[in-house]
Amino acid sequence: MCGIVGYTGEKAAAPVLLDGLAKLEYRGYDSAGIAVLEKEGLQVVRRRGKVAELAHTVGHFDLTGTCGIGHTRWATHGRPSEANAHPHASCAGDIAVVHNGIIENFAELREELEGRGHVFRSETDTEVVSHLIEEAYVANPDISLVEALRLACTRLVGSYGLAVTCEREPGVIVVTRQDMPIIIGVASDGAYVASDAIAVIGATRDVVLLADQQYAKLTPEGAEYTDERGRAIEPQLTHISWDVDVAEKGGYPDFMLKEIYEQPRVIRDTLAGRLIGGRLEIDELDMTSEELNLVDRVYVIACGTSYHAGLIAKELIEGWARIPTEVEVASEFRYRNPIITPTTLVVAVSQSGETADTLAAIRDARIKGARVFGITNVLGSPVARESDGVIYTKANKEIAVASTKSFLGQIVSLTLLAMLLAQAKGKLRMNQIRLLFRELADTAEQVEQILADTSDIQKAATACVDATSALFIGRGMGAAIAKEGALKLKEISYLHAEAYAAGEMKHGPIALIEDGFPVIAIATDSPVYDKVVSNLQESKARGACIIVIATEGNEHIRELADYVIYIPKVRDGFSAITATVPLQLLARSIAVMRGCNVDQPRNLAKSVTVE
Ligand code: F6R
Repeated sequence: MCGIVGYTGEKAAAPVLLDGLAKLEYRGYDSAGIAVLEKEGLQVVRRRGKVAELAHTVGHFDLTGTCGIGHTRWATHGRPSEANAHPHASCAGDIAVVHNGIIENFAELREELEGRGHVFRSETDTEVVSHLIEEAYVANPDISLVEALRLACTRLVGSYGLAVTCEREPGVIVVTRQDMPIIIGVASDGAYVASDAIAVIGATRDVVLLADQQYAKLTPEGAEYTDERGRAIEPQLTHISWDVDVAEKGGYPDFMLKEIYEQPRVIRDTLAGRLIGGRLEIDELDMTSEELNLVDRVYVIACGTSYHAGLIAKELIEGWARIPTEVEVASEFRYRNPIITPTTLVVAVSQSGETADTLAAIRDARIKGARVFGITNVLGSPVARESDGVIYTKANKEIAVASTKSFLGQIVSLTLLAMLLAQAKGKLRMNQIRLLFRELADTAEQVEQILADTSDIQKAATACVDATSALFIGRGMGAAIAKEGALKLKEISYLHAEAYAAGEMKHGPIALIEDGFPVIAIATDSPVYDKVVSNLQESKARGACIIVIATEGNEHIRELADYVIYIPKVRDGFSAITATVPLQLLARSIAVMRGCNVDQPRNLAKSVTVE
């Protein structure tokens, strides 16, 4: 949730760190700080608020050092404040630490360290690390920084990505990780480290994704890698292919809009190379057709928007492959005792690939004997590494906190998985697969069509700006799409929104409706279209302002709706791809009109790496 950067090389470190932090700010944005090794010692500058505020403060210091670490924070232990912002120094102020994750045993460590005279200056869990390193030096004065960090880590329980610098070893940064990403890149002008490739790829695209309990020592000349016992290891380079311009808005006013407009490409890239000789191929899943044919129960586990992609997958897997499918939020699944047998397939969906609850659910499912597939957007992420097979969603880096393009990538990937299962079970013949695949590929163009004219979405948004609440309704696929529409609206506009299966309206939520209350309905062509229309009539009769996502050519709906947003005709199974796009745009327009920061909504972070 927090972001880490580090640089040691021939350039001044502060601008490199600030640039990296700006790119990582989507991960957390309540405070930020840097520590740079100057001639007179470590200089730590921290600020509550955004990276721009930190940059302003740093401007008042004359930082020329060429080695430093930085951090952007999303508060877990300790409120957002300057004192709680990272880096955290040791008592002597000669060691600085930045940390991503949670040290679960920090309270007992802190008590122990305070008992031995250490003075803490923050409420964070992180600060114990700088004091533990300090202690390691006291006990073993001649050890190196990497050894001191290794000793400190033997005391830690929890998750961490750590970067440390110390006056004793000028020009050196040491890093390690447990369950949190650490990415290292060595370029001609120095060594870079970050918790996300986006802050490194401007320097080099060939990076090392550090594994759990591995350590790296960065110097201006390069990086040396060791394992938890100090044995040298040979790093494996991973090439990052996406462009550095993903970190730029490219002429759009915000990342969210840019990412919404990237969706046709995401669909095309996610489908590329999947249909070979009329058969669907997903080799990365590493499962034969015979093994897939044995699957008799599917769980989709995920959180937030990714969970909504799972709801859509349920419709498709049950509809085509006829396999009973449950969709569960990972934070519930991990504490239940679900029925898992060797023929159970667990599909873990996570854009970031590092959501703590989803990871815990994967581990639990594997211990219980399930086969686990990961669907993720981040190469080499923990979800990818800990699953038996993985499908990458090809959305490329998603910066806006609210998921848009990765959601479409997830739906397309899950649709392929549903088709693959149906193919393996003989429920879909080759000609049916080919037809479905062609129609799925056509959705890229249909989304382009939606994006080409958004004027009706704008008009509908105007009707919602001053509302205090909104209701999203639909049936079947539409009910799942409604949930995603409501989540998007509430998270970026702070307008309360709820999603309901339209048929449930009269069992309670209809009481909410009064004059002008926005009811947003997914009423595309589907077997339940007429039923949705009846539910809309009930809302209309009570004064609701009706906004409908309808299929092109449906003029009849205009009699009922105050605002109609038309989308191209697609088969019901693919309506989530097309109908979601106007809902994303609607939420964004409402949020912009309400003056909200759509890329960085309050209280949220892009990756939820804590339970
Ligand atoms: C909403 C949103 C979140 C995430 C959720 C899961 O727009 O982005 O609800 O979907 O935090 O994150 P991932 O997919 O990274 O596991």
